[in-house]
Amino acid sequence: MLVLGIETSCDETAVAVIEDGQKILSNVVFSQWVHKKYWGVVPELASREHIKSILPLLKASLEEAKVSLNKIDGIAVTCGPGLVGSLLIGLCVAKGLSYSLKKPLIGINHLEGHIFSNFIEHPELFPPFVCLVVSGGHSTLVHVKDKGDYRVLGRTRDDAPGEAFDKVARILDLEYPGGPSIDRIAQKCESGGVRFPRAFLEEGSFDFSFSGLKTAVAIYVSKLSPQEREKQRDCIAKGFQEAIVDVLVDKSLKAALELKVNQIAIAGGVANNSRLRQKLSLEAIKEGLELYIPSPVLCTDNAAMIAAAGYFHLHNGENSPLDLNAYPHLSLEQKV
Ligand code: KG4
Ligand code: ZN
Repeated sequence: MLVLGIETSCDETAVAVIEDGQKILSNVVFSQWVHKKYWGVVPELASREHIKSILPLLKASLEEAKVSLNKIDGIAVTCGPGLVGSLLIGLCVAKGLSYSLKKPLIGINHLEGHIFSNFIEHPELFPPFVCLVVSGGHSTLVHVKDKGDYRVLGRTRDDAPGEAFDKVARILDLEYPGGPSIDRIAQKCESGGVRFPRAFLEEGSFDFSFSGLKTAVAIYVSKLSPQEREKQRDCIAKGFQEAIVDVLVDKSLKAALELKVNQIAIAGGVANNSRLRQKLSLEAIKEGLELYIPSPVLCTDNAAMIAAAGYFHLHNGENSPLDLNAYPHLSLEQKV
């Protein structure tokens, strides 16, 4: 079964073809660089970029997969959460294809797509497990009870971790997106890094909060002379990264132990962070837990993960009507 996946929820336009939910035949992604100078995604610009690139990407994806449109068995498209204008562009293309090809359409939750990026590369991974989805827009700790059956254990109350990385990178005059820049320079710091506060919130809470940490970095930096700021930059980056990683690792492990599951998975752009991967691997081994991490191209936004989730639902006999809408605040527990 060949599923075409379309992802346009934020600033990546992506189209992929997947065979039987597992084999990636093509996975093309266009990361919109137009937002760079604004240090964040500008929704109207994102919609315009999606309109310009979606059809060329569709063509490129089919060519790379060596598949013609009439061989596609189903179309999976992200219907939320995300930017409404951006989501609508993917939805319009997917609906047009579904209608003209007479093939089923399935709307996919972007966060479920991130969870499915783990199933693509790890066929040995079976629910139940705990999945930490961390990106520029999300920070969600999920109990994956089964494929398609999720309970949100906690989420961010303010900034997502990727957003915090991006904002702190700006404070430190680094490049956008900030995550990879901070990850890189933090490795140059030879000490433990500047100590910043960790927000664990109330006892037993699996929610996250990163805006206080961002403010702590801003206040620290504002008290430094330009020379001192330059001198300490690597260790400020390291201290900030350590504070985020400590909280993410601590809550993921606690959730797995409390739910008595023996597997943890991570997903989303921040799952590319080298320190998060390293620390979670070490701590998981200590607790006798197995850790699953997708390869970098499947961590950041892509359409292969949407097609993989789409395959699961289509195979299950589900599909979406042609009046499927865009849901900017769609929760993982909500059915569309
Ligand atoms: O999943 P993604 O591509 O898009 C969203 O759904 O947001 O994630 C993008 C985010 C950006 O905020 C970026 O700074 C962050 O992922 N990111 C990282 C790293 N690579 C990307 N954060 C920390 N360390 C990294 N190595
Ligand atoms: Zn994402």
